[in-house]
Amino acid sequence: MIISGKELAAELKGKMAADVVKYTEQYGRPPHLVVILVGEDPASVSYVTGKAKDSLEVGFRNTTIRKPETISEEELVALVEELNDDPEVDGILVQLPLPKHISESKIIATISHEKDVDGFHPMNVAALWQKQGGVVACTPKGVIELLDKAGVEIEGKRAVVIGRSNIVGLPVSKLLLDRNATVTIAHSRTKNLAEITRSAEILVVAIGKPKFVTADMVSEGVVIMDVGVNRDPATGKLCGDVDFEGCKEKASVITPVPGGCGPMTRCCLMENTIECYLNLMNKRNK
Ligand code: GUN
Repeated sequence: MIISGKELAAELKGKMAADVVKYTEQYGRPPHLVVILVGEDPASVSYVTGKAKDSLEVGFRNTTIRKPETISEEELVALVEELNDDPEVDGILVQLPLPKHISESKIIATISHEKDVDGFHPMNVAALWQKQGGVVACTPKGVIELLDKAGVEIEGKRAVVIGRSNIVGLPVSKLLLDRNATVTIAHSRTKNLAEITRSAEILVVAIGKPKFVTADMVSEGVVIMDVGVNRDPATGKLCGDVDFEGCKEKASVITPVPGGCGPMTRCCLMENTIECYLNLMNKRNK
């Protein structure tokens, strides 16, 4: 079964759009997401454009602020602080990566945790690991929603996650653990990786290496969630971390790239923005 994140995202965005109409009546204005893009990196420009398009589709107000590569860390901090204090702003996202002279961790920590729609702020990360709610990072959340949509039972399964990034590998591992899977976290330098991946009933791959997981590395019936977005060096086309053509013969469920996990990431960003908006509105109305 090839699961389309595109389809599920469209369905969920349709529901959110209807909710946003109701919230706008109730609270007097729609949710407002502000996205900051520093520099001109084409991949970042494309991601930010997608976020703006989805925001408008679900009825948000969207502001994209573009700043030159040369912006100083102090100026970016000041901009984020201004947005933190703005009662008309519900969600703040600073597109990563940032230029080398700006500390990403400093900027992430500057964003108010209540407006951190990425779920990257240390307080939201801590809340996830301590099971205290908070905003959950978009890609991991989207992976779990796709598994649920595909009817995959997570409880009791052996899950292997390849990748240990703060953005995907670690949080998706924690979410799987919280659903009572037994999780192994591996990476591209894990010894005998194929032996480990062949033991997986659910395999999540997020390392950013084109077609890294080949058919010989997976077992019959495996569920494969491919979070990679790469350019195939041979064709220049978008491809995942998994050799889709080879692995789809063995997998019971597999996500394509593009059209699998990617659209769900953006959809969960919309969900997180609504969550931040509702929390802020309800706090203000107390
Ligand atoms: N760059 C690549 N993915 C992401 C993301 O999910 N959030 C942000 N802020 N930047 C990114």
